[in-house]
Amino acid sequence: MKTAICYYSYHHHNTLKVIEAMKEAGDVDLICVTTRQAVHLEEYDCIGFASGIYGFCMHPSVLEFAKQYLPEGKKVFFVYTYAGAKGKGAKDLRAIAEGKGCTVLGEFGCRGFNTFGPFKLFGGSGKGLPSQKDLAEAQDFYRRISQK
Ligand SMILES: Cc1cc2nc3c(=O)[nH]c(=O)nc-3n(C[C@H](O)[C@H](O)[C@H](O)COP(=O)(O)O)c2cc1C
Repeated sequence: MKTAICYYSYHHHNTLKVIEAMKEAGDVDLICVTTRQAVHLEEYDCIGFASGIYGFCMHPSVLEFAKQYLPEGKKVFFVYTYAGAKGKGAKDLRAIAEGKGCTVLGEFGCRGFNTFGPFKLFGGSGKGLPSQKDLAEAQDFYRRISQK
């Protein structure tokens, strides 16, 4: 299954680590939503959207990208990392995808290292996350949805 994962990951590249693990498990291209590039999502069987959770939501740049470039009727999935409160998680993306008649295969989330706000004073939360176990679970998740 030819897959593109469209992502935004800047705080500690936690989300990038997760989707790089998924890339090792299949035929996956990673597309950063903030770099200007020609986007041809039509050629993929399946499209993932990934980011950290910022203010209880996935990053707006990923939502905008999905609104603009996600073709109708694709298989989709969502990936996010967070410190401890995922809030809405992928809810908004799910609504965008379903509005385009896409099939949601699932979502994967795990905790990531965080130094935002007061956490910085104490050396951050979730040091060492995502863990090797998280990355292995991310690969299992991707292999599982690839069968669908
Ligand atoms: C501006 C900002 C807002 C954040 N908001 C939340 C939040 O609402 N809930 C949460 O659990 N983590 C929050 N975090 C922590 C990130 O979700 C977490 O570190 C994530 O793994 C970052 O992903 P990235 O390294 O791929 O950018 C926030 C981090 C930043 C920098």
